[in-house]
Amino acid sequence: MSQINIKYERPLKGEISPPPDKSISHRASIISSLSEGKSIIRNFLNAEDPLRTCNAFRQMGIEIEEHRTQNTEHRQKADLIIHGKGLMGLKTPKDIIDCGNSGTTMRLLCGVLAGQPFSATLIGDSSLMRRPMQRVITPLTEMGAVIQSEKGGYPPLNIKGGKLKPIDYKSPVASAQVKSAVLLAGLYCDGVTSVSEPEKSRDHTERMLKAAGVNIEIKDLKVSVTGKAKLKPLDTTIPGDFSSAAFFIVAGAIVPDSKILIKNVGINPTRTGLLDILKMMGADITIGNKREVSGEPVSDISVKYSRLTGIEIGGDMIPRAIDEFPILCIAASAAQGTTKITGAKELRVKESDRIASMSKELRKMGVEVEELEDGIIIKGRARLKGATTQSYGDHRVAMSMAIAGLVADGETIVEDTECVNTSFPGFMEMLEKLQQ
Ligand code: S3P
Repeated sequence: MSQINIKYERPLKGEISPPPDKSISHRASIISSLSEGKSIIRNFLNAEDPLRTCNAFRQMGIEIEEHRTQNTEHRQKADLIIHGKGLMGLKTPKDIIDCGNSGTTMRLLCGVLAGQPFSATLIGDSSLMRRPMQRVITPLTEMGAVIQSEKGGYPPLNIKGGKLKPIDYKSPVASAQVKSAVLLAGLYCDGVTSVSEPEKSRDHTERMLKAAGVNIEIKDLKVSVTGKAKLKPLDTTIPGDFSSAAFFIVAGAIVPDSKILIKNVGINPTRTGLLDILKMMGADITIGNKREVSGEPVSDISVKYSRLTGIEIGGDMIPRAIDEFPILCIAASAAQGTTKITGAKELRVKESDRIASMSKELRKMGVEVEELEDGIIIKGRARLKGATTQSYGDHRVAMSMAIAGLVADGETIVEDTECVNTSFPGFMEMLEKLQQ
């Protein structure tokens, strides 16, 4: 079992580029596989989660060529050529499909499998096997798929696809995975399938389906897709992952005298709640060199240390910062005063129960924390206490606790850190580079 040992060395200085975006990488492999012809995907995230999605499509007969860029700053990227076979070009997988730790792989695949003339079984690791799937089972069943699950809607899932009918689905949760599963299934329907959500979640699926020539209409919180289109192959470059950059944005903001430039970061507004939150807390962040790359907004972000102040966060800010909660807790722990986060019950069903995980681990580092059913109250302190902490097998908890170690007295150990490879192989090398 691997661990991270970390202590403050010196201010963080220098330039980095985060690994490619995980959410967009998943979608690129799915949409290319369903398109008709050869797609070129540059800067694909070569990490465990998106590779699970690629392997699922390989199991269903799609040829995916991988060209790794070796001597770059990262070992986390690859260029892919995907030979799509159209919406109906997939073959019955011979084996069970193992989605590993990846909720996105499992939930988005459900949408694709719902429209297939065969059945397939999906499993995952111990974390994924405990995550709720009823949220995709309900709309896909209404569309006509037959899905068997464990009692309560847990994996393994057996999905028997078939002829689907369009629906107008009102999702009870703001979830890009649910929205995407319904939109992907909608590709297999005659007519228009719609999905509405209570707050806006990330919109990468909508953007990429449009790029593939699919008719997508967006009206406030409702997205509609017209089915049975022929998908055009993609020629796309994936931007750097804002959620991976987030660890360094916070590190730069809280480690005294730091100054970092983070280049080529996706700043899709459905993802950048953390920037707004940190600015409200008093962070010194500048967004420069704004541009558009393959239909996604991208920029270079510079961050300088400044003393942060606690604030209250809730409402529609939550889905825009949903994956940044663990690292936001570290910012709050290092801020002056109290930070209160509410309306974030979804965090209970992520790769770990992130409200419980972060509460427990921050207490070990001397932080006063109150756990709420749907959030957390954190009282910041000038320095944290070095401690031996746990990741709960959750990549974002592991990386957040490592950043906490930079503002703690003495050494901090983070145990069980292999999970970092699900989204960010090379995380420690990048941090070490900034410490030189
Ligand atoms: C993701 C959507 C979010 C996010 C997850 C990735 C995606 O999950 O937390 O890390 O790529 O669609 P939900 O859809 O459950 O909110």
